[in-house]
Amino acid sequence: MKGELPVTRYALRVTIIAKQYHQSHITHHASRITSMRERIVTAQQIEEDKDNDSIRPGTIGEYIGQERVVENLRISIKAALMRQEPLDHVLFYGPPGLGKTTLAKIIASEMGGKIISSSGPALEKAHDLVGILTNLNQGDILFIDEIHRLNRVVEEFLYPAMEDFQIDFVIDKGPYAKTIKLDLKKFTLVGATTRKGLITAPLRDRFGILHHLDFYTVEELEKIVFRASRILNVHIDDGGAGEIARRSRGTPRIANRLLHRVRDYAQVKGGGKITKDIADESLRLQGVDKMGLDMLDRSFLEVIIDVYNGGPVGIEAIAATLNEEKDTLEDTVEPFLLKIGFLLRTPSGRRASNGAYEHLGRTPKVITEQGLLFLPADK
Ligand code: ADE
Repeated sequence: MKGELPVTRYALRVTIIAKQYHQSHITHHASRITSMRERIVTAQQIEEDKDNDSIRPGTIGEYIGQERVVENLRISIKAALMRQEPLDHVLFYGPPGLGKTTLAKIIASEMGGKIISSSGPALEKAHDLVGILTNLNQGDILFIDEIHRLNRVVEEFLYPAMEDFQIDFVIDKGPYAKTIKLDLKKFTLVGATTRKGLITAPLRDRFGILHHLDFYTVEELEKIVFRASRILNVHIDDGGAGEIARRSRGTPRIANRLLHRVRDYAQVKGGGKITKDIADESLRLQGVDKMGLDMLDRSFLEVIIDVYNGGPVGIEAIAATLNEEKDTLEDTVEPFLLKIGFLLRTPSGRRASNGAYEHLGRTPKVITEQGLLFLPADK
């Protein structure tokens, strides 16, 4: 160390302390976190959501929220029906749980067609698509979820199907191989993705209608909770619906899941009626806080604050510390934290905002070479 500048020595010491701290927190954070499979507020579909079909809106008139998207779809559908033409291919993008599949089903029903659903990872070979495509009629919908995960061969096979309603079908092998062109009926492809940025330009350009789905407002979620409660025959008052709506992180799928859990609690502890207090007790018991954050969200912010001094830090480092998949964090944790302003994405990495510090009961701080400083306000 002799001859080194004090600043360099300080930086080295900080690095060593940070490493020791980091190591001691890796096991601490990773072991504390509920696994994704157990998260009650994950926006991704889980087993218990699958029987929710009875509460999904079946027609465009029943759909609550996403007003601009719904109004535009109404017009596109009506125009297509009036011209007796197929609806242009539609791409929905946005965070999970906001209604992309529901809207695809509604489009099929409004167009008077059937819907065949698949997903990017499930379509492994172009061959998988031949039977599906040749069985579609005009007005039918082919719905491909997670369309950004299609492999290149399948994606390229789709191009002429989307553009010219034709596919090139190879029969036989080796020297006897022949390509035959098959004509398709004028179907509509509805694609859904949580990652618009990962869709290739040629695929994106083949969609005539693109819609971004954003998080729902608390008022919209209240209406969704009331509608689901009516269908499920659940007694709920304004306070109960408001509490569930506020803790559903802008996502109908989560609102419906919380409603089911709170209903169980109300049945056992509250005489069957969901009130504000019952919803509050039940959700607190399940680790969902006032903002709808669960253990994984809070741990995500704590890692940035405690292990990386508030950031900036790369998502890979956060994922490694939490022992979680980077994609899972990007898809299901970050969007809502960004939306409520607890997380800031800067060119040099993720930072926790002052709001996040306050929510977790911490004092905003940052360590610089000059020592401890208070963070300036974010806004
Ligand atoms: N259930 C889930 N999403 C809904 C929505 N957007 N409108 C009505 N009910 C819903």
